[in-house]
Amino acid sequence: MCPFHREDTPSFHVYPDSQNYYCFGCNRGGDIFTFTMEIEGLDFKQTLELLAQRAGVELESETRHEKSHAKDLYDVMNLAAKFFSDTLQNPEGNIAREYAKRRLLTQDDFRNFSLGYSPNSWDSLTRFLKNSGVSEKQILDAGLAIQNQSGGIYDRFRGRLIFPVKDISGRVIAFGGRLIDGDGAKYINSPESQIYTKRRNLYLLNDARNSIRKKSRAILVEGYMDALRLHKSGFQESIASLGTSLTPEQAELLARFSDTCYICYDSDLAGQEATIRGMYILQEHGLAVRVISIPEGKDPDEFLCANEAKDFETLIADSQPLILHHLEFLREKFSTPGQFRNAEKSLLENLSRLRYPEIEPYNTRICAILGVSPDELHDKLREISHSKAKFTPEIQEQDSQIEVGKVEAESEAQDLPDYSRINKIEAGICALLWNFPELRTSLDSQSLIDLLGESEACDLAVAILTYDSAEMNQRWLLTGEVGALSVIAQGENFLREISSELENLEPLEKWQRMKKILEEFRAIQRIQSIREKMLHERASYIDMEDLKKFF
Ligand code: CTP
Ligand code: MN
Repeated sequence: MCPFHREDTPSFHVYPDSQNYYCFGCNRGGDIFTFTMEIEGLDFKQTLELLAQRAGVELESETRHEKSHAKDLYDVMNLAAKFFSDTLQNPEGNIAREYAKRRLLTQDDFRNFSLGYSPNSWDSLTRFLKNSGVSEKQILDAGLAIQNQSGGIYDRFRGRLIFPVKDISGRVIAFGGRLIDGDGAKYINSPESQIYTKRRNLYLLNDARNSIRKKSRAILVEGYMDALRLHKSGFQESIASLGTSLTPEQAELLARFSDTCYICYDSDLAGQEATIRGMYILQEHGLAVRVISIPEGKDPDEFLCANEAKDFETLIADSQPLILHHLEFLREKFSTPGQFRNAEKSLLENLSRLRYPEIEPYNTRICAILGVSPDELHDKLREISHSKAKFTPEIQEQDSQIEVGKVEAESEAQDLPDYSRINKIEAGICALLWNFPELRTSLDSQSLIDLLGESEACDLAVAILTYDSAEMNQRWLLTGEVGALSVIAQGENFLREISSELENLEPLEKWQRMKKILEEFRAIQRIQSIREKMLHERASYIDMEDLKKFF
């Protein structure tokens, strides 16, 4: 059966990306085929024909689609981008060209970065789009206009230098507009829309991704002009986060292309808690994070306007690993008694997101600053991971009744782990750990974390691995946390269901078998979710890359 549409009828899907068409399908027998095609090799129509041939179906003519004048949002964004870039070349764009010149931007840059100008008028773009057959609703949906009280609409971007934001396959999905003169916000940006999700995109990623791969590093900056200037100076591996905190989605995106990320933010920003947390998110997703600092509080754009590329290369070479950057930022706080505890908390909480080998090289320094031994540091980090997992046993000798009552009240106030989200395979893994104490010596928590990730099952499994059953049992009974025991019971059911597969295996082999079952289950889930997205034409480049891995 075809995993994409789960039927035995022939079907195929084509996903165009800026370089390739990804083609998937199956024929009547349910055989699946998949191939990638260079745009140069075949045009879209030929690709379709080949697909149809392999799926064993006949192509219908597309008159139905041709007749439809509905333009989708991508088309609307394209039209707008064209309008902005044309306007930049018109007499109307004089003021913007002069501004661009002052900022050392050339005609080549206008072209390479598709820069534009939004005229200083309330309705130039809106009128242009309407004349091109775009409806008011589409203009609003694209975020290009704003509706006033009386229902009329007016241009969002007025009198600004325009930076188009493209998605990873090069389609324009949003705009940023830089104020040229007068009052107003320095930048305004497109709102989120059906095609633009802020947390999933990075400015210039489409232009940067090949360089990021080739150089095996990304340079992350804050602003449009910073990323653009770096590209101009030969650092095409640069992208910008556009003034928002980094998200796990962006981290995941970057981690696919490179293993190191250099961060170069304005110095006031680079020290902020939220910014540092964002950097740890990157590192948590497998990127080695290093922080570049620019002297005299300049931003990368300002630095490169005043210095040469090789000087920036020197700054890269002088960059600091994230942990050292963080320690340095906290140094002053650590030496102020009133701030010590907060600083310690910030450090430990962020460190507890990392794997031990990433922390290990800085152990001595961290211990010295906190005034603890390596063992104590290890304990503290473990404690935080566990309290995150809401399994802080802290079964301190003979808890008094009052203490127990307090734990209960607190755990009720916090949200209890949502055990209903643990699937039966994950529950089976918990049951396995519960029933085979010998796994505690042969497994480490890292292998569990690798497998179970941030799920509720992970917290439970790590707790089982770390404390002995009697200890856990006692705690759960004390706190009335019966959910965990019921997960284990469910898991035991599942183990019984598949007992024929596990029979005669050593505990470690049973674990490996369960791991495999979970991985297979997840692969199927992932394929199905991509398939869902394909059906709604929402599959991304990354989804398609992922899908290829399964075949
Ligand atoms: N930003 C924004 N809205 C603002 C200010 C900033 O969206 N009102 C975003 C923009 O993406 C901007 C980035 O935050 O590029 C960094 O802001 P800032 O450092 O203030 O500007 P610069 O990038 O240095 O801009 P310029 O060099 O044009 O002054
Ligand atoms: Mn700047």
